[in-house]
Amino acid sequence: MAILVTGGAGYIGSHTVLALLQRGDDVVVLDNLCNASPEALERVAKLTGRRAEFVEGDIRDRACLQALFAKYPITDVIHFAALKAVGESTRMPLEYYENNVSGTLSLIEEMRHAGIWNFIFSSSATVYGANAPVPYVETTPIGGTTSPYGTSKVMIEQVLQDFAKAEPQFTTIALRYFNPVGAHPSGDIGEDPSGIPNNLLPYIAQVAIGKLPQLGVFGGDYPTPDGTCQRDYIHVMDLAEGHLKALDHLKNTQGYRAYNLGAGKGYSVLEMIRAFELASGCTIPFEIKPRRDGDLAAFWADPALAAKELAWTVSRGIDEMMVDTWRWQQKNPNGYGQ
Ligand code: NAD
Ligand code: WQD
Repeated sequence: MAILVTGGAGYIGSHTVLALLQRGDDVVVLDNLCNASPEALERVAKLTGRRAEFVEGDIRDRACLQALFAKYPITDVIHFAALKAVGESTRMPLEYYENNVSGTLSLIEEMRHAGIWNFIFSSSATVYGANAPVPYVETTPIGGTTSPYGTSKVMIEQVLQDFAKAEPQFTTIALRYFNPVGAHPSGDIGEDPSGIPNNLLPYIAQVAIGKLPQLGVFGGDYPTPDGTCQRDYIHVMDLAEGHLKALDHLKNTQGYRAYNLGAGKGYSVLEMIRAFELASGCTIPFEIKPRRDGDLAAFWADPALAAKELAWTVSRGIDEMMVDTWRWQQKNPNGYGQ
C-alpha cells in the first residue's frame, strides 16, 4: 500500500509528505519540479528518517502515470500538482487550464485504468467567487471566480463531482484551503517562491531579511476595521494534518465531498505585519499602495464541517505561523537554492 502525492516536492506537498512519512505511510511523489526543488524531499528524508519514492514526471504524461501505477501499489492519491499564481493565470490562461484541468483529467483517467479510486484534491477558497457570504460555507454554490486559476479549480471540482456520480467506486474529497502560511518548526522546509513573492507573508519575510526594501500594502480603504483586507491564514502543518484526516475519512465516505480548511478567523494585512514584527523583532517598513486587481475585502472559513466530519481543527495560531516563517527565512535566506 502506498499513497501517491502529486506535487509532493512543492510547498504544501512537502509538509504533507513529511506528516505521512512520520505516521508510517509509504509515499510516492510525482513532481515535474516546475516550481519546486528536489532538496525539499531530501530535507523531509533527513527530518523523518524515512524517504518517499520520487518520480520526476508530469501528470499530463500518460506513459509516466501508467508506469508509476504498474510499479507501485498505490491505493490513494493526494493531488497537489498545479500552477497556482493568480496574476500569471490571467496572462497565460491556456497554460493554466492545460496544466491544471487537463492534467487532472489524465490523472483520474489513468487511476480508473489502474483501478485506484481514492482521491484528495487541493481546491481553494477562491472557488467561492466574488459574491459569497462570509464566512464561506460548503453549501454555498461555487463559481463566479475572477481568474483562470480560480476557474480551473471550479472546473476540476465539477469534473470530480460528475465522475463520482457516474462511478460509485470513486471517492473524492476536495479540500478548500484558505491562506496557507508558515513552515515546519525545524525551519528546514518551507515556502520557496521563485522571484518576487506574490503572497503576503513570504513578501514580509523577505523584507525582514533585507532582500526587499519595503512592503506595499494593497489598499487602505477597504470596508474593514483598519481599511486593509482580511484573510483566514492557516499554518501549513495544520493543513498537512487536514490531509491525513481526509485520507482516513475516505474509508468512511462515498462519492464527492468538499471541506473548508481554514481557521475561521480573519486577520488584516496590518495585523499580519504587527504579528510578524512581534515574532521576529524586526521592523517591517510598509507603504499603502493602490488596491490590487481582483482582491476581495475580507473572507474567512466556516470550518465547522471539517471539525464535525473529519475531526480536524487548527491547533496553531498566528504567533506560531510568524515564528515558523521567520525561522525558515533566517535559516534559508535563499530558499532551497543556496
Ligand atoms: P507549489 O507550486 O509549491 O506546489 C505545486 C507542485 O506541483 C510543485 O512542486 C510543482 O513543481 C508541481 N507541478 C505543477 N504542475 C505539475 C505537473 N503538470 N506535473 C507534475 N508536477 C507539477 O504550490 P503549493 O502552494 O504547495 O500548492 C499546492 C496545491 O494547493 C496547488 O494545487 C494549489 O493550487 C493549491 N492551493 C494553494 C494555495 C496556496 O496559497 N499555496 C491555496 C489554495 C490552494
Ligand atoms: C493576502 C493579503 C493582499 C501581497 C492568494 C490566492 C488564493 C489562494 C491563496 C491559491 C491580500 C495583501 C499581498 C503584498 C499586500 N491561492 N498583500 N501586499 O490574494 O488572499 O490569496 O493565495 O489557491 O487563490 O488569490 O493571498 O497572500 O496574495 O494576499 O498587501 O505584497 O495581503 O492584498 O489582502 P490572497 P495573498
